[in-house]
Amino acid sequence: MNAVMTMIRICAVGAFAFGMVAGWSPEALADEKGEMEIRKDSLTKQLLDDIRQGKIEVEGDHAAVNELVIKRDIPIKYEYISILMRAPNAFGEGPACIVCHGSADPATSYRGLDLSTCQGIINGSTEPPVRKIITPGTNPKRDVLGRMLRNNRMPLGVKFNVPTDSPAIHLVKNWISNGAKNDDHFKKSVLPLFSKPNSFAPDTPACIECHMSNQEPPSFHELNLSTYEGIMLGADSVAKGVNNATKVIVPGNPEESGVFQHLVENRMPPGIDPSSERDHPNTQLLFRWVAQGAKCN
Ligand code: HEC
Ligand code: HEC
Repeated sequence: MNAVMTMIRICAVGAFAFGMVAGWSPEALADEKGEMEIRKDSLTKQLLDDIRQGKIEVEGDHAAVNELVIKRDIPIKYEYISILMRAPNAFGEGPACIVCHGSADPATSYRGLDLSTCQGIINGSTEPPVRKIITPGTNPKRDVLGRMLRNNRMPLGVKFNVPTDSPAIHLVKNWISNGAKNDDHFKKSVLPLFSKPNSFAPDTPACIECHMSNQEPPSFHELNLSTYEGIMLGADSVAKGVNNATKVIVPGNPEESGVFQHLVENRMPPGIDPSSERDHPNTQLLFRWVAQGAKCN
């Protein structure tokens, strides 16, 4: 945080100091004719204007990437995405993505997912269930790629080597598949799973230790897993309003349901510490590249 604030200050001070030394200011330059004229769409000019008008937000851990890149919609090059996929620790501590997703061959690459080429990222997982991991032109936050980079498997702290096909997970899955009804089966067999420790993995707290009401804190994401109504209402109903709460159950469709996704999907790279940053600057840049159309050159 402090480093970022300092950096932005240095940026501003540096630019002004340079202006003084060289004997020009952006205004003076803009008035001149010919090749010295500063273009209206100049990024540097926009930044200086914003700094002068106090429009730069230095809140948050990623002020630099947000202010200098995301907010100004600088085109992210595939070249950079390619490096991220090849670099260890690019999104948090762990091996590079292409170590485990290096080709479309399921014999050497998990899910037959090839993250080593642009087309491979666009093609997605080639092993059944074959599926896309992004939709070019849209924010991938809720697509497979976004979920695998941001969503920790629950209960928070569960290891990635705990089976995802346990009887308890099947109970939740079948309940959602069968319409997520508030019936006796739900009350007797499904709801208590969220209230008891060790339901989904050994040595793990109950879901309701962290999701017990609509108030954050103490309840993460204002998610209440202690009642049927709370579960169906979803997450962030106070922050976003009841009608815009993030649904965590889609009746009939476990794959689209946040609760099921959070029981079976491991954050990448597997084994990453769940307390490590979910909104890593590189995650932001990867998401922006996808939103800008996932262009390959
Ligand atoms: C050490 C090996 C390993 C590394 C490194 C790794 N993954 Fe994975 N990845 C897996 C395994 C195993 C699965 C499938 C099982 C699972 O979900 O845990 C998977 C699944 C995925 C999926 C889901 C595909 C689908 O259709 O189900 C995505 C997306 C993904 N990884 C992206 C990444 C990204 C991005 C990185 C780099 C940050 C990465 N992975 C690093 C092993 C790895
Ligand atoms: C130790 C605390 C803790 C426990 C226990 C826990 N969670 Fe979470 N949960 C979190 C945190 C923190 C987040 C925020 C995002 C993250 O880390 O992925 C979260 C996010 C979620 C979300 C996403 C909400 C959204 O905004 O879409 C769901 C769904 C969820 N948890 C379900 C569960 C379930 C089901 C259990 C029990 C199996 C559980 N959680 C146990 C801390 C916990």
